[in-house]
Amino acid sequence: MSVFISGASSGIGEACARSFAAAHQDLVLVARREVRLQELAQELRTQFGVKVHTFGLDVRDRAKIEALAAAHAEIFEGVDVLVNNAGLAKGRDVIQNGKPEDWDLMIDTNLKGLLYVTRVFLPSMIKKKRGHIVNIGSVAGQWVYQSGNVYCASKFGVKALSESLRYDLHGSGIRVTEVSPGMVKTEFSQVRFEGDQEKADAVYAGKTPLTAQDIADTVLWCVQRPAHVNIQEVVIFPTEQPSIHPTAFGVRPD
Ligand SMILES: NC(=O)c1ccc[n+]([C@@H]2O[C@H](COP(=O)([O-])OP(=O)(O)OC[C@H]3O[C@@H](n4cnc5c(N)ncnc54)[C@H](OP(=O)(O)O)[C@@H]3O)[C@@H](O)[C@H]2O)c1
Repeated sequence: MSVFISGASSGIGEACARSFAAAHQDLVLVARREVRLQELAQELRTQFGVKVHTFGLDVRDRAKIEALAAAHAEIFEGVDVLVNNAGLAKGRDVIQNGKPEDWDLMIDTNLKGLLYVTRVFLPSMIKKKRGHIVNIGSVAGQWVYQSGNVYCASKFGVKALSESLRYDLHGSGIRVTEVSPGMVKTEFSQVRFEGDQEKADAVYAGKTPLTAQDIADTVLWCVQRPAHVNIQEVVIFPTEQPSIHPTAFGVRPD
């Protein structure tokens, strides 16, 4: 069995790679920053003796993921666990001031990218009658917050696709889990605010956010349940973030 993780070059995806490697699972890691993946792969091979394949991939590139799956059929068909983690928020404008290029980026990555990646694994999982798809959603896919608009819409879409996969794959033996975190300290806010470190730091100032490891622990726990048990959804907030609504609690959501 091996585990495919999209967006493994930082944050939650990287933490998932470390956790699955520590659990002696072989890995297939993808992201755009391939050098980071290669360094991580080397470290995990040395530390845990697992096999790790890495591929530079932009999940928006449907032709590339299809070509990789065809060229490396043995590796892709050996994947039993797919962690759809690659994703991002860009900008924090009210919708009337939103930038269409940010909207395209979020919808193309968070939704279409997840679909393109999932599609290449379904035939082999269906044939094997087993598999586990873990989609990293968000609390922003459960509730909307002001200025969350298109990011929220993309994560509501992840929720809809997770439910749809469960219906459409019923009887196939494939499990589908959605893990929806609140605020996690990763590179997420740096990306959202285009490298503005001050704005990114302000998000977490005076708070104790979740760590990427908290989410990886949860993903691993879901996957390690017996085959007849499917944890459909997990919603995880930091203790200091009681709700998604920042105005009510002075804490920004994600
Ligand atoms: N941090 C939070 O508060 C939070 C809360 C709820 C949900 N989430 C979700 O958790 C997931 C992981 O985010 P994170 O917090 O770990 O942020 P992060 O540290 O910025 O990691 C995001 C990962 O996604 C990858 N990625 C982004 N666009 C990609 C693309 N087009 N193709 C391939 N890979 C891509 C990045 O790799 P490259 O840049 O190398 O491609 C990176 O490895 C996302 O889906 C995010 O929406 C985060």
